[in-house]
Amino acid sequence: MQRRIVVAVAILALGVGGMTGCKKQPEKAAEAPAPAATAPAAQPAAPPPGATTAGAKSGADLYKQYCAACHPDGGNTMNAKKTLHQADMAANNVKSTDDIVKLMRNPGPGMSKFDEATVPDADAKAIAQYILDTYK
Ligand code: HEC
Repeated sequence: MQRRIVVAVAILALGVGGMTGCKKQPEKAAEAPAPAATAPAAQPAAPPPGATTAGAKSGADLYKQYCAACHPDGGNTMNAKKTLHQADMAANNVKSTDDIVKLMRNPGPGMSKFDEATVPDADAKAIAQYILDTYK
């Protein structure tokens, strides 16, 4: 009888010991390094502002592109009496956006000609408006 109990206890002890021993192993294994958190994929760059109106430039941009070389700051590098300031232009009968556009299509001596293929009417008017608004 007694022997049986001892054996049973021994088996129990072994079993418990074995179980706890075994239990520790899988727990350690479970501590596998977590996969490095991947940084969120960079969002595709947003279209630059103004991309939807590609091609449409402001009067200021067009002025810089086509006119500023000879008319920096509304001046006139070739003829000081024909600046783009309103007093000068009025003296030469250039008063409206239409007058300015006409001069672009049919310029005076020394000024480059800007035909419709180069500067379409809408752009020419934007430039003219910019001149009237900016150089007073
Ligand atoms: C190559 C130089 C040159 C460029 C580029 C040029 N101009 Fe001129 N511009 C002149 C000259 C020179 C005159 C004077 C012409 C004359 O004697 O009638 C003039 C005159 C003018 C006048 C009349 C000014 C006044 O007081 O009577 C206007 C308006 C004008 N230009 C607008 C423009 C615009 C708008 C652009 C751009 C789209 C432009 N010009 C580009 C040289 C230039």
